[in-house]
Amino acid sequence: KTRLISRLGAGVNRDKTGARRLTYECLYHNVFLGSLQSSSRAYSVIPPPRDREEQEMVHRMLRVDHAGEYGANRIYAGQMAVLGRSRTGALIQQMWDQEKKHLAKFNEILAENRVRPTALLPLWNLAGFALGASTALLGKEGAMACTVAVEESISEHYNSQIRALMEQDPERYTELLEVIKEFRDDEMDHHDTGLEHDAESLPGYWLLKNAIQLGCKAAIYVSQRV
Ligand SMILES: [Fe+2]
Ligand SMILES: [Fe+2]
Repeated sequence: KTRLISRLGAGVNRDKTGARRLTYECLYHNVFLGSLQSSSRAYSVIPPPRDREEQEMVHRMLRVDHAGEYGANRIYAGQMAVLGRSRTGALIQQMWDQEKKHLAKFNEILAENRVRPTALLPLWNLAGFALGASTALLGKEGAMACTVAVEESISEHYNSQIRALMEQDPERYTELLEVIKEFRDDEMDHHDTGLEHDAESLPGYWLLKNAIQLGCKAAIYVSQRV
């Protein structure tokens, strides 16, 4: 919405004659009516569960997503501890900042819906940081290889959730789907950033990538359940 307002604002500056009224009408419809519509819903992202089964499905999804974003934050923290003052520091910080937003959103969703986070957060705290720092010790290419591996796993995970929700009831989960799609796009960007910054030139890249992705799969499996 902010982006929309600034775009419309720019329109007012460019064409002061005829378009101004139209612009304000658009503003009214998009922003004012839009917010009225969204505030008439009793929930922000997750609809109240229909039954126990749906509640469990949704909680499992949110729990693992939260765990993933938490782990991603710790990985970037580990990378920054090693490479923060290097030339790659700003780039890593940029990706980390996006992960902070992702995590904040899932923190909010978990709290609103009283979803219990995984009991393994202390483990992901340590393991994430260790993974980030140890790959960063291999140099910039190591950190980027780790980013490619992890972000590819997270994107695939989000994609499979999107498929599952679409199969269930796309109307019902519109808001959640929007959140997940937006985050999935960010993770794809991180993945591409890793490739653009020489991830593949790390000696043993494929071996490291496969090992990390195996770890991600295991982490996803247990974080849904524990
Ligand atoms: Fe993320
Ligand atoms: Fe990411």
